[in-house]
Amino acid sequence: MSPEINLEKAFQDRIDKGEKIEPKDWMPEKYRKTHIRQISQHAHSEVVGMLPEGNWITRAPSLKRKCALLAKVQDEAGHGLYLYSAAETLGISRDEMIEQLHSGKAKYSSIFNYPTLSWADMGAIGWLVDGAAIINQVMLTRTSFGPYARAMVRICKEESFHQRQGYEIMMVLASGTPEQKEMAQDALNRFWWPSMMMFGPRDEESTNSELSMKWKIKRKSNDELRQQFVDNSVPQAEYLGLTIPDPDLKWNEERGHYDFGDIDWNEFWQVVKGDGPCNKERMEARQNAWDNGKWVRDAAMAYAEKQSKSKSIAV
Ligand SMILES: [Fe+2]
Ligand SMILES: [Fe+2]
Repeated sequence: MSPEINLEKAFQDRIDKGEKIEPKDWMPEKYRKTHIRQISQHAHSEVVGMLPEGNWITRAPSLKRKCALLAKVQDEAGHGLYLYSAAETLGISRDEMIEQLHSGKAKYSSIFNYPTLSWADMGAIGWLVDGAAIINQVMLTRTSFGPYARAMVRICKEESFHQRQGYEIMMVLASGTPEQKEMAQDALNRFWWPSMMMFGPRDEESTNSELSMKWKIKRKSNDELRQQFVDNSVPQAEYLGLTIPDPDLKWNEERGHYDFGDIDWNEFWQVVKGDGPCNKERMEARQNAWDNGKWVRDAAMAYAEKQSKSKSIAV
């Protein structure tokens, strides 16, 4: 066997035994590249995900709601930072990742390309979008790449708080006036299908799945995770007295799961390819934040340089 094949075999053995791969360990180039792609796109999703909710901080209906939403949005910034740091351990710079986001080369979760039209959307997003994220991310706490798995443990704790604050907003609205209940129903109607799309294409169309399973980046398929999301969400919607906008949704005794209707895959691909309702607006907001933050980055660099100079003089 060539040395490369030996290395690959030893690498796969470690993964099969459940060992974590650390940044300085040998890894196949494809493993490194796949992780840079996945972790950076995850980081971008956290950061772009602040925009639809950030939009409602000034209009939250009470001080308590404002504080909770502010804290939640701030948590998402933190998630982005842990993840950018985890990706940097694989040999890519933060600037390069940001450049890939701005140029459209890197993707982020399509759910954030939908607009937030009412306060109830803060409830639906926390409940459904953070709920779907948790299902994906709990799986990732056991992924093979150490820095990614460890970042996920902390992120998941915060995500479950996010989901509860969203569900609580929905509970208050759904048990409020008829107009409030209608707002909650409308938010569920608009966010249900985009949330279902968060698990990605159907298994037979998912190109990266096989390697991801082998390397334990993924432990469950897109369709399995989506099913789990539906099974979790139906009783929660029932408790709220709201209706999930899917006429084909019904309990299947034989499978022990809910059956559900078809996702509009045309819409999915359209949004992924950049043609969703808010894609342009989100990228403009990120680009502006980057441009307007240049003086902060420059000042931080100048200060760091000054500090290291004064230290070297002192020595
Ligand atoms: Fe997050
Ligand atoms: Fe979250």
